[in-house]
Amino acid sequence: MASGRDRADGGVMPPHLPVLLDEVIASLTPLTGKRILDGTFGAGGYSRALLEAGANVIAIDRDPSVEVHAARLSSEFPERFAFRRGTFSELDALAAGPVDAVVLDIGVSSMQLDEAERGFSFMRDGPLDMRMGGEGPSASDLVNQLAEEDLANLLFGYGEERKSRRIAKAIVTRRAEHPISSTAELAGLIEKSIGRKPGAAHPATRSFQALRIAVNHEFEQLVEGLFAAERLLQAGGVLSVVTFHSIEDRIVKRFFSVDAGQGARSRHLPEQKAEAARWDPVAKPAKPGKAELERNPRARSAILRSASRSGAEARTVSYAGLGVPDVRLRGAA
Ligand SMILES: C[S@@+](CC[C@H](N)C(=O)[O-])C[C@H]1O[C@@H](n2cnc3c(N)ncnc32)[C@H](O)[C@@H]1O
Repeated sequence: MASGRDRADGGVMPPHLPVLLDEVIASLTPLTGKRILDGTFGAGGYSRALLEAGANVIAIDRDPSVEVHAARLSSEFPERFAFRRGTFSELDALAAGPVDAVVLDIGVSSMQLDEAERGFSFMRDGPLDMRMGGEGPSASDLVNQLAEEDLANLLFGYGEERKSRRIAKAIVTRRAEHPISSTAELAGLIEKSIGRKPGAAHPATRSFQALRIAVNHEFEQLVEGLFAAERLLQAGGVLSVVTFHSIEDRIVKRFFSVDAGQGARSRHLPEQKAEAARWDPVAKPAKPGKAELERNPRARSAILRSASRSGAEARTVSYAGLGVPDVRLRGAA
């Protein structure tokens, strides 16, 4: 796996440019001597900045291919850095004790997107895989095994693809001839079925996003990660979350709001006692500025939300009120 790209000045660019890095670090400052959980290690851009600011870092990632980057930080900061492989649903055990702050940078890394053999990108031909951790059913399994209606619901629910039925039909027709196993074949098939508007995003963008979310259970993982952070942080501890997708941002925003997890209230029911707030906003949501976007166009849809933990008891995990799309799949998923 590539560990970096050459820069014009002879240095090596990190393989993934950390997004909203200054804003993330500011949201977690002061850092000296603190114990910080970086739940999405990637190429270690956040972890490195946290270590350089004097923090102790426990870094987590579900993708085994990031271990080469973690090894570098382990040798530079042997006393203050530890990497553990796992997912958000295992955060409590992986943290092994209370932490002062948690940071989550949700989504795919540039390494995952840029390596054709990982199968995340419709721009590069590769096997239709998309598994961040290499385990469980792949995108090809979903595309070749789900019922047409489930496939359409998945593309609509997770990708907000309005032409989902047409795409699902085209997939089912094609797979009756042979299994669909490459990113290029799927991208071409989608383009053929719904057409391409000049100047618009590639017609496969939404479908690829939906499949990636389903393959990696990204919304369920996000909810698990948020509630794990709520359990791990003491009063005053900060959770900072960067998302790249409007549905994910909605989940984070609602999670931080008082009523999240309690379900909708009816005006016909007797007045209920207000829920104690679990989170207090730390700063306004932040988006990348012009300079960052020029440097890194992949940051364009990023948004950072940070909040600090109140003293109120942690909630039990609940999807109610968070706006997670309800997509039920039978079979491969
Ligand atoms: C956008 S990248 C993080 C980049 C990192 N902040 C940096 O500066 O290099 C997201 C990383 O989180 C990992 N990831 C995504 N969902 C995860 C989950 N549920 N559990 C653990 N790791 C996850 C991915 O494998 C990927 O490496």
